Amino acid sequence: MKEYKNVTIIDHPLIRHKVAILRNKETGTKEFRELVEEITTLLTYECFKDIPTKKVMVMTPLERTEQTMVVENSIAVIPVLRAGLGMVNGVHTLFPTARVGHIGLYRDESTLEAKQYYCKLPDGIEDKVAIVLDPMLATGGSAVAAIDLLKEQGCKNIRLMNIIAAPYGVETVAKAHPDVQIYISTLDRCLNENGYILPGLGDAGDRLFGTK
Ligand code: PRP
Ligand code: URA
Repeated sequence: MKEYKNVTIIDHPLIRHKVAILRNKETGTKEFRELVEEITTLLTYECFKDIPTKKVMVMTPLERTEQTMVVENSIAVIPVLRAGLGMVNGVHTLFPTARVGHIGLYRDESTLEAKQYYCKLPDGIEDKVAIVLDPMLATGGSAVAAIDLLKEQGCKNIRLMNIIAAPYGVETVAKAHPDVQIYISTLDRCLNENGYILPGLGDAGDRLFGTK
């Protein structure tokens, strides 16, 4: 398999196991939603490895000790609507105070171009580590559009978290935004003629929200 410098694949038997169930077309909406959350929590553990921390003094029952804590206001997660919404609780499980911004994008079904319809970001986003959440990285159009928008707002430290990515999308993001590291559980084979990831899992938004 070709290696990509901008991608960290978080390869773990538990993640592989959950992704296998996620892909299965027999997996229903409730289980699909739970799996997206659980996989996101596992990805978060790795993606947040070098987030800003500070030294604090803590009084144990026995003595004062210097400890390390996360700078709470330093992180924002940005789900790309709709499917990115399914990942938010997975981050909050480990880091409940992460601020949440929303970017609404949909792929035009004929051109596959990402169209923006909504954007609401936390105050001070330019100084935070911004982590874009979307289960699927296919052509990369949606990810590039979301990252463009965050950079227009002054963000300098941006990461992208996907559950499944296609090589084409990874290369598109690397070309447009070489400074953005992508955290994924699985790099799939390719895209089909309709821009769907193979083997993939189908339409993540529809499977999360039961719209088809
Ligand atoms: C899906 C997915 C990504 C996008 C990926 O969203 O959640 O946002 O497609 O494809 P790309 O890499 O080719 O841009 P979709 O446009 O289907 O919208 P939805 O989440 O509202 O269903
Ligand atoms: N969006 C999805 O939800 N699935 C794909 O395979 C590609 C884009």
